[in-house]
Amino acid sequence: MRRRESLAEARRSVDALRPESLETARLSDALADVADRWSKLHGLAVQVTTTGTARPMTPEAEFALLRTAQEALANVAKHAHATRVGVTLSYLEHEVALDVRDDGEGFDPAGLEADTATTGRSRPPSRSGGFGLTIMRQRVEELSGTLQIESEPGTGTGISACFPTLPTGSHA
Ligand SMILES: Nc1ncnc2c1ncn2[C@@H]1O[C@H](COP(=O)(O)OP(=O)(O)O)[C@@H](O)[C@H]1O
Ligand SMILES: [Mg+2]
Repeated sequence: MRRRESLAEARRSVDALRPESLETARLSDALADVADRWSKLHGLAVQVTTTGTARPMTPEAEFALLRTAQEALANVAKHAHATRVGVTLSYLEHEVALDVRDDGEGFDPAGLEADTATTGRSRPPSRSGGFGLTIMRQRVEELSGTLQIESEPGTGTGISACFPTLPTGSHA
């Protein structure tokens, strides 16, 4: 089953897990693991929520959501100085959304886009940091997903990645 193999792969990239847990890997479990590890490392709880009924997605999209969560959480640790962090996986009728939200310092996302627009290519903007968000967006958009960055200085940050789900009954 490709779906399981790909999730297993994703989990290995997150960290080595016992082989028996890979057998039953699911996206929400994998996200909970990512959040748990992050919490232990940074001493801050992450509220993980899954809503709706799990629906089929391509393994590539599941992997991209997991990577998005990792990158977004890495940014929370590195930049946000947050006191609350939440990860939400929402299965809607035709799409699945992953949302990582913090109540930290926030930033001006327009600064990132402006730097890319003036050079006409992606490069690490000297003012605003590295490649993380750019790569995150590319990874999601390559798979026909969408990425939204909502932030403002002083209001915290929300990163949402959204993918269409496959018709019910199909196998990824
Ligand atoms: N959760 C966050 N809270 C505050 N600022 C953030 C957050 N995520 C990203 N940023 C800002 O956006 C910039 C770009 O992020 P990113 O592309 O991941 O690069 P890097 O993390 O290497 O600096 C960061 O340098 C930081 O200024
Ligand atoms: Mg980063």
